[in-house]
Amino acid sequence: MAEPIILAIESSCDDTSAAIVRGNTVLSNVVAGQQVHEQYGGVVPELASRAHQKNIVPTVHTALTEANISADDLDAIAFTQGPGLMGSLLVGACFAKGYAQSLNIPLIAVNHMEAHIMAHFIDQTPKIPMICLTVSGGHTQIVMVKGPLEFKVLGETMDDAAGEAFDKCAKLIGLRYPGGPLLDRLSREGDPMRFKFPIGQMPNFQFSFSGLKTAVLYFLQKQLKEDPEFIVKNQADLAASIQYTIIETLMIKLKKAVEEKGVKSVALAGGVSANSYLRERLTSWESEGFKTYIPEFEYCTDNAAMIGCAGYYKFLKGELEGLDVAPLSRLKI
Ligand code: KG4
Ligand code: ZN
Repeated sequence: MAEPIILAIESSCDDTSAAIVRGNTVLSNVVAGQQVHEQYGGVVPELASRAHQKNIVPTVHTALTEANISADDLDAIAFTQGPGLMGSLLVGACFAKGYAQSLNIPLIAVNHMEAHIMAHFIDQTPKIPMICLTVSGGHTQIVMVKGPLEFKVLGETMDDAAGEAFDKCAKLIGLRYPGGPLLDRLSREGDPMRFKFPIGQMPNFQFSFSGLKTAVLYFLQKQLKEDPEFIVKNQADLAASIQYTIIETLMIKLKKAVEEKGVKSVALAGGVSANSYLRERLTSWESEGFKTYIPEFEYCTDNAAMIGCAGYYKFLKGELEGLDVAPLSRLKI
């Protein structure tokens, strides 16, 4: 039987994305970003929903055109069920339902966090078992991957996510939202050892990043009293030191997980896996005998291709939904 052709929709946060996959091969992956949030220093849920509503039809249209696929060729529609912002999820879910009904094809509901990991199954099957560090704006998890869609969460953050730590600390040193990529770029010019910030000490495979944000805030308040120009003068060293602290915290736990579980295959997923220093650190494990997997940039941050890949494996398992399926803002792996 020919591989199924699936339209995938991702609308959990502030990017509207549509992709067409054939099996686990990506035929197109279109992302419409939302600049409207920049002026507010963070995602405004109400504005995100409205932008999704505007973007969704043209984005799907472009995905079909770029893949050279007509709507009649589609075998199913996969969409992000959660976790995410309810208003944003509703736009994707309602569009997917209406379109699936009009084409008389099945719906597939996909967990966004599972999909970030499933990006590693696009065009390949990674070496299993694999341990994946999923680091995004809303989540930080260490997950044991036993096969496509077979996951066990080993540990996660108790408060802020790694991406949130990047964004909040970036804001404190004067970078605009979303600060993660800007902090990454600025760090290349700075000294990561110049300022010492605390590495989160949590049991097992858990993380905590809220202490770092507070430590950076208090440190800056103290320095600014002595020198109002402190941030401007030291911005690159601050960025590099903050980045070093976040990545070091992640790598310590990831190393503990692979050693305790005796796993030699290790992966990154989620928006923060676009971070150049994190990618460099994990790649260096290759010389220690690990097989490392790092997604291409377009599959790190939110994208519908990963939803399509997860959707394909759900389709194979017969995990299809009726029209009563509803989005869930909190959805666990
Ligand atoms: O996975 P994602 O696109 O959306 C969520 O599901 O949250 O992740 C977005 C997060 C943001 O916090 C953003 O600042 C962070 O990923 N991010 C980065 C980099 N690129 C994106 N953080 C550090 N360095 C980067 N290069
Ligand atoms: Zn994400």
